[in-house]
Amino acid sequence: MLLLGCLVAGAIFLLSPPPAMPPPPPANRAGTPQLGGEPILPLPLEVTWNEEKARLGERLFHDRRLSATQTTACASCHLANKGRADGLAHSIRHDGAPTPVNTPTLFNVTYNFKLFWNGRTDTLGQQLEQDQSTGIKWEILPARLSADPDYAKSFARLYPQTGISVSTLRDALIHYERSLVTPNARFDRYLRGDSHALSAPELRGYQLFKSYGCVACHQGVNVGGNLFQKFGIMGDYYADHGITPSKADFGRYALTRREEDKFVFRVPSLRNVALTAPYLHDGSAPDLDDVVSDMAQYQLGRPLPEADKADIIAFLKTLTGEYRRQPLAPRPPAGGTPVGSPLLRSSPSAASGGVPLAGTTP
Ligand code: HEC
Ligand code: HEC
Repeated sequence: MLLLGCLVAGAIFLLSPPPAMPPPPPANRAGTPQLGGEPILPLPLEVTWNEEKARLGERLFHDRRLSATQTTACASCHLANKGRADGLAHSIRHDGAPTPVNTPTLFNVTYNFKLFWNGRTDTLGQQLEQDQSTGIKWEILPARLSADPDYAKSFARLYPQTGISVSTLRDALIHYERSLVTPNARFDRYLRGDSHALSAPELRGYQLFKSYGCVACHQGVNVGGNLFQKFGIMGDYYADHGITPSKADFGRYALTRREEDKFVFRVPSLRNVALTAPYLHDGSAPDLDDVVSDMAQYQLGRPLPEADKADIIAFLKTLTGEYRRQPLAPRPPAGGTPVGSPLLRSSPSAASGGVPLAGTTP
């Protein structure tokens, strides 16, 4: 992976100005996948997880009792209607302190090769062990949650060997996290051969995304999430913005103490990126316009004409997918239910036997 990372990072320096646009792929032949040679792959349409465990995990995810102060649920920061992030540059932890980095989306988290901005863990289980956002001591949770008869009943049924334990609590949360996938974005439909899925500017945006070299880093099934790269290859973002880098800004250096790992991060996924402003690990880029300019300047060292930037942004907006077959939208429709919690709507057991509303967040 690292080797691949070095290769693609090297490759971007060799890119010449955007070549003439290649012709669009051949017209749709119904059902024929047209993935030949594309650096981005569609998200699988069908993924399986244990639905009952995911439903239990969803209840835990929305339960404030999972924090030390019983004030903060996972969903306090990973919100259903904000692309499973929260729209803040830095979120507020259970103890009132700001998080050192911006809250990443949890959509499609299962497709990232490492977790956290600096990639310090490999699996969702390790991520839960190391997560400090809620300040919870996991060992106290089984006793705390066993007092809730609904949890006791659900865990006894789904985990008859152990009931509520640290590992079964984490297992249920992981099943829920695996269910947070958003397939069938318009761009994925294009990749699958639907030639009408994208407008001309969106398609041009994709060609530019490739020809400028964005795709050297943002690629694969998650349009990112599979490489480590330095932020600021072609310039010093922090000096230019008058920011003194914090420990969190040093990225992987905090783990490895190797000079070459300074400012190195897991390349973020761009799936649903239109929903997850503000951007960058420090939340310092307020919108897509801003962050795409930053990428051209600091990652590619090339000016990006306004018209090209507009088309690239139009392309990025086609990466918004569907959650449980409902298209994700920036905001829930007026008066509607927030996108992303259909389980709580459709499941009588979750609605009646779920966590008391006072202890939950949307
Ligand atoms: C106070 C806000 C907050 C709360 C509460 C919170 N998180 Fe997070 N979450 C974050 C931030 C910030 C990060 C990034 C931390 C980093 O990279 O160092 C993160 C990262 C993650 C990641 C890794 C995502 C990735 O792509 O690398 C997962 C998974 C995750 N959180 C799940 C959870 C779960 C499950 C809970 C509840 C037990 C939870 N979070 C509670 C803010 C929060
Ligand atoms: C050399 C690798 C590289 C190239 C090339 C690159 N990026 Fe990035 N991109 C990154 C890294 C690393 C980050 C995270 C930086 C940070 O948070 O400090 C990032 C962040 C982003 C983000 C913010 C995502 C978020 O959730 O915060 C967007 C949007 C983005 N890039 C789009 C682009 C576009 C568009 C291009 C081409 C104009 C591009 N990138 C070129 C590596 C790259």
